Amino acid sequence: MSQRFQVELKKLVDNSYEIEIGERLFPSLIRDLQEGLVPGVSKFAIITDSSVEPLYGQPLLKLMRQNGFAAELFAFPAGEPSKTRETKALLEDQLLSHSYGRDCCIIAVGGGAVTDLAGFLAGTFGRGVPSLNYATTLLAAADASVGGKTGVNTPVATNLIGVFHQPRKVYIELAAWRTLPVREFRSGLAETIKHACLADAKFFFEYLENNIGKIVTPDGELILDPETCEQIALHNCRIKYEVVEQDEHESNLRQILNLGHTAGRALEAVSGYTLLHGEAVAVGLVIQAKLGVKLGYMTGEQAERVAALLRRAGLPTEIPDAITNRMLMDKMYTDKKVRSGRIRFVFQDGIGAMKRFADGSYSTPVEEATIMELLEEIRG
Ligand SMILES: NC(=O)c1ccc[n+]([C@@H]2O[C@H](COP(=O)([O-])OP(=O)(O)OC[C@H]3O[C@@H](n4cnc5c(N)ncnc54)[C@H](O)[C@@H]3O)[C@@H](O)[C@H]2O)c1
Repeated sequence: MSQRFQVELKKLVDNSYEIEIGERLFPSLIRDLQEGLVPGVSKFAIITDSSVEPLYGQPLLKLMRQNGFAAELFAFPAGEPSKTRETKALLEDQLLSHSYGRDCCIIAVGGGAVTDLAGFLAGTFGRGVPSLNYATTLLAAADASVGGKTGVNTPVATNLIGVFHQPRKVYIELAAWRTLPVREFRSGLAETIKHACLADAKFFFEYLENNIGKIVTPDGELILDPETCEQIALHNCRIKYEVVEQDEHESNLRQILNLGHTAGRALEAVSGYTLLHGEAVAVGLVIQAKLGVKLGYMTGEQAERVAALLRRAGLPTEIPDAITNRMLMDKMYTDKKVRSGRIRFVFQDGIGAMKRFADGSYSTPVEEATIMELLEEIRG
């Protein structure tokens, strides 16, 4: 006879947090810590990468120490190839050897690679310690630092090893966009345009159509009008937040954030990562829009508006010649949305809304022959 015992662990969790958007937010961070944003912490670990370290990591470390906080800085080599389990393990060993324990707080200072890696570390170190995100790229502001997804890449798949770990607060440092290389900035603009395509025709898509010239020119000059940057950060956060709030763990609605990513992620990988994530997503958005026209979800004119906005941001909209349709197709079969061996897409419903299908899902399978036909037409 076996014995059974029910472990009752129902929890009501409040993962709410504030996002602050502005220029030069270090004083605000210090004030928040002084006012008890993260109680019970005796030591802070600033985690950053080698490029961000001299620009923002070291200055923050200095300011924290001046204000009496026990803090140390841990940096890893900049770039996506560092976002691995191995880097995480190295950082964990460094924290342990510097006597960090459960009473620490992680401050991630950098772009999405830093917030993903440091957030994952915070989610597992001592079985979970509090963390703050100080986002220094548009991509981190637009996407990575909001929503609680953290993780690392492996040789087989990107972002699949990780945890959901919500930060205690997110700081979006607009002044940091001025030191960003223009390609990195545009990469963030692709996710920004994606948000406008999927959620907001009037206040965001049209706003971007009217104001994109105030932040960047198609030939790569960064203008960065402060008011426009603030609006962009605000709309990005609002849209991502509204989706994540309804579907934190991606059971359905959160899939819409995958707009342009079925073809985009595949392109990024088959380009050998010579295309930045946002550049690949830009082309993926155009493929999705044109496929949407073919399937009757948007008009040719709407698809052209999407492509035109991407072009004005200086983003690519065509598949590079070196990548064949077959290469792209084969890679799309490794997409995380693939079910029963069928490639799935999420689609815009016109501009500013998403298509929901008869089974209630926001993604739908598309036949290989239809995708191939479209790719051949695009190459024309
Ligand atoms: N968790 C999520 O929901 C989510 C969503 C989207 C993307 N991501 C992840 O985000 C990452 C991409 O984000 P990213 O583009 O910010 O990557 P990143 O952190 O690698 O930053 C890009 C480059 O810019 C440098 N940099 C950062 N801030 C700078 C600044 N202010 N001035 C000068 N250089 C600066 C970095 O050192 C790096 O070389 C990917 O790993 C992606 O998987 C996560």
